[in-house]
Amino acid sequence: MIIQVKINGIDKEWDVDPGMILLDLLRDKGYKSIKRGCDEGYCGACTILLDGQAAKSCVMLAGQAHKRSITTVEGLGTMDEPHLLQKTFVEHGAVQCGYCIPGMLLSSKALLDENPNPTEDDVKEAIDGNLCRCTGYVKQIEAVLDTASIMRGEN
Ligand code: FES
Ligand code: FES
Repeated sequence: MIIQVKINGIDKEWDVDPGMILLDLLRDKGYKSIKRGCDEGYCGACTILLDGQAAKSCVMLAGQAHKRSITTVEGLGTMDEPHLLQKTFVEHGAVQCGYCIPGMLLSSKALLDENPNPTEDDVKEAIDGNLCRCTGYVKQIEAVLDTASIMRGEN
């Protein structure tokens, strides 16, 4: 089947097997920021933004992305011009092995796009589906709250 998606702002048309998992398709197409963890919708390593909402691509068929908009970390920032979330994650020491970070960044972006003034509990809820075995979450939560305050012009 042919699917049309807008990924990181670019229109694509792909011929896919109807049974193909979206995570496999996107990694095959070069979006390697998307990680495979549990493959069961539990760890959040495969998180993408689908029409602006965090979604786990390991439990979706490629066809479910037809005519929808996808954002991955490749579309978030670059090495030269990182997204503010990426900068604050680094500045807060919120990244260790980094495996969870692409998904964590996208879940955080979805939150901040919807709610520019989140509470700590809002952040915890937003990244609840993104498991990190390294950092203990404190630094990541601080980084998201700091990003929000910078975006509001307070910091
Ligand atoms: S790999 Fe998709 S949720 Fe774990
Ligand atoms: S930084 Fe290692 S899993 Fe999160």
